[in-house]
Amino acid sequence: MAALRILASLLVGLCAYYFYSQETFSEETVRGKRVLVTGSSTGIGEQIAYEYARMGAHVMVTARREKRLQEVVQKCLQLGASSAWYITADMHNLTSATRVIEETENKLGGLDYLVLNHVGGSIHFGPFEGDMEAVISSMTVNFLSYVQLTVSAMKMLQESHGGIIVISSLAGRIPSPFSVPYAATKFALEGFYSSLRTELRLRKIHLDVTVAVLGYIDTDTAVKAIADKVTMTASPKADCAREIVKGGVLRQREVVYPYWTLKPVLLFKDWVPGLLESVVGNFYKLENIL
Ligand SMILES: NC(=O)c1ccc[n+]([C@@H]2O[C@H](COP(=O)([O-])OP(=O)(O)OC[C@H]3O[C@@H](n4cnc5c(N)ncnc54)[C@H](OP(=O)(O)O)[C@@H]3O)[C@@H](O)[C@H]2O)c1
Repeated sequence: MAALRILASLLVGLCAYYFYSQETFSEETVRGKRVLVTGSSTGIGEQIAYEYARMGAHVMVTARREKRLQEVVQKCLQLGASSAWYITADMHNLTSATRVIEETENKLGGLDYLVLNHVGGSIHFGPFEGDMEAVISSMTVNFLSYVQLTVSAMKMLQESHGGIIVISSLAGRIPSPFSVPYAATKFALEGFYSSLRTELRLRKIHLDVTVAVLGYIDTDTAVKAIADKVTMTASPKADCAREIVKGGVLRQREVVYPYWTLKPVLLFKDWVPGLLESVVGNFYKLENIL
């Protein structure tokens, strides 16, 4: 009975916090801002680029596929971007990450928002059977290149009192079977960027870090990889992108999307880890995975 009362109070508190924290912002404040979005040839990154474009930002997009990037640039311009540019780069190569930042400085003359979103390496949904190449490749593309981009962009971001927006996942907060190397990269991102955020604050450096913790989103890649292997329903990528951009502009520490699906899981993960593990087990259709 006491436990139920605590649970009910927690949920009421959570609802109150959620509605109280629903800030809004004027889209005009984004006009003319300079934004780099990585992994923006498709999926959530592409939608994030459109969201900034719609508000009149200067947008730089990057990924490996040139034709797709050209199409994204065209659409950004149609949507109202102050300017739109692209640079092809493979984030397996950390020198390419530095080159992306140099080209961004050349074209935009500075940077207000660095959106770190790309995902690649050996992304494979299935049992981990000791493939070290997959671990190294995932760590390079999904973690080390994020750090390299941040290091190279730091001076510009400090000058503009800008923001870094890091796209993470529920897989970076709770154990995530069948995507072990990927989950490791997201845990690494969470550790790096939450520590960096605190350090910047202590050093009185005005640079904000927003981490977006995402659930299952309906991008082509995600749906193709896991639709028949999980019991979850995918949330819409355009809505997800809107919440991420809003969180970054409002300088929020964290964006959790979809909020009501993920937040209870995050609250309970340290309190009842055993129960959480059983609940998580029900998300997977083992007959389609093993
Ligand atoms: N979708 C979900 O369910 C979900 C859930 C939680 C978190 N997330 C996170 O959300 C972010 C976006 O996911 P998404 O589903 O939108 O992925 P996506 O549709 O597969 O897009 C990935 C992007 O990364 C680029 N990319 C891949 N490998 C690259 C490389 N080696 N170098 C440079 N760019 C590379 C791809 O472009 P090219 O192929 O042209 O290079 C593409 O633009 C990721 O950080 C992901 O972890 C997604």
